[in-house]
Amino acid sequence: MVKSYINFSNNNTIQRNNPPYYAKNTIDFKAKERIEIMADNKKKVVLVGTGMVGMSFAYAALNQNLCDELVLIDVNEKKANGEAMDLNHGLAFSHSSMKIYRGGYSDCSDADVVVICAGVNQKPGESRLELLQRNTAVFNSIVPQVVQSGFDGIFLVATNPVDIMTRVTYELSGFNASKVIGTGTTLDTARLRYLLGEYFEVDPRNIHAYVIGEHGDSEFVPWSQAILAVKPIKDVLTDNSQTYSMDELEKISVDVRTAAQEIIEAKGATYYGIGMSIVKIARSILNDQNSVLTVSVRLRGEYGGKKDVFIGNPCVVNSGGAKRILELKLTDEELDKLDNCCNILNDNFKSLSI
Ligand SMILES: NC(=O)c1ccc[n+]([C@@H]2O[C@H](COP(=O)([O-])OP(=O)(O)OC[C@H]3O[C@@H](n4cnc5c(N)ncnc54)[C@H](O)[C@@H]3O)[C@@H](O)[C@H]2O)c1
Repeated sequence: MVKSYINFSNNNTIQRNNPPYYAKNTIDFKAKERIEIMADNKKKVVLVGTGMVGMSFAYAALNQNLCDELVLIDVNEKKANGEAMDLNHGLAFSHSSMKIYRGGYSDCSDADVVVICAGVNQKPGESRLELLQRNTAVFNSIVPQVVQSGFDGIFLVATNPVDIMTRVTYELSGFNASKVIGTGTTLDTARLRYLLGEYFEVDPRNIHAYVIGEHGDSEFVPWSQAILAVKPIKDVLTDNSQTYSMDELEKISVDVRTAAQEIIEAKGATYYGIGMSIVKIARSILNDQNSVLTVSVRLRGEYGGKKDVFIGNPCVVNSGGAKRILELKLTDEELDKLDNCCNILNDNFKSLSI
């Protein structure tokens, strides 16, 4: 588990003023101290749910050398075992020396992050709410066990409907809201930036635009906040009205909203993009990066006093989880859209029995 230097030098490492060690052999002391620092700094992630999304995350995590230890948990233990074996056989071709194994909930005790991708699929004829209720039952079999292990890190939820499942995790865990986050609209935001990059012929990394709200049908792009490098996109449109138009930008936001459905029709499910998005969020937590990401977070009175509901919103993410929510200066029309998202998510959550 990652700890700050100051904390652990006060706890379980040898103290500098411990004369027998220090005075006898300074080099020994330093080497031992370094080993203990390294051991204490090991980054550990537990993944619950080794399906397509979970394993896309795990594969990306291995290739990007995200952590030192990756534990795989699934109700289907045989599958989790096979996945651990498969990833381990790829270690020799990676730049990582990650320890990967199939584990149990007791392994969460010293983890920094628990990623939840476990869920059940929609049955034919099943309503969204029925699916939600069944996924809540799945989370009831997961979250209390993670908490019972003594876990004190950050929950990162990807299971859909992600904003509601993140709120379910918050309720079941009893954790502080900053330590429970969902993938929110991070993937939608990445899709938006990719399409805007193509449209404006600009590197997507220079596009600062966000999808916010529900990860789902009511999500929207607050165009008033979208910036190309340092220039507001609204001004780019005004200055280049022959080339660019708001209508086309609206079409792009529809494409973003329907992208998942299009991929599902083409190949059955979406998983690589979300897997990489989970790695990005987890890295910001593990490395205390303070990255601004549109994770699903619990509102604390923003946007005219909205509380309790979890929505995708730009947020500073670091080792403490959701450190700071960035409240945007939305137009009245955008505020109405945000209201709509919050109402949908609140109504769905309230219809659940947890
Ligand atoms: N947040 C996003 O942007 C995003 C994007 C794509 C998919 N998803 C969601 O991610 C979730 C997983 O999708 P998938 O394609 O990997 O599904 P999947 O069916 O391939 O995998 C689900 C896994 O969960 C496991 N599981 C079920 N119940 C469990 C339990 N009680 N304990 C432990 N493990 C359990 C299953 O055995 C299975 O391995 C879905 O809810 C999907 O909608 C989210």
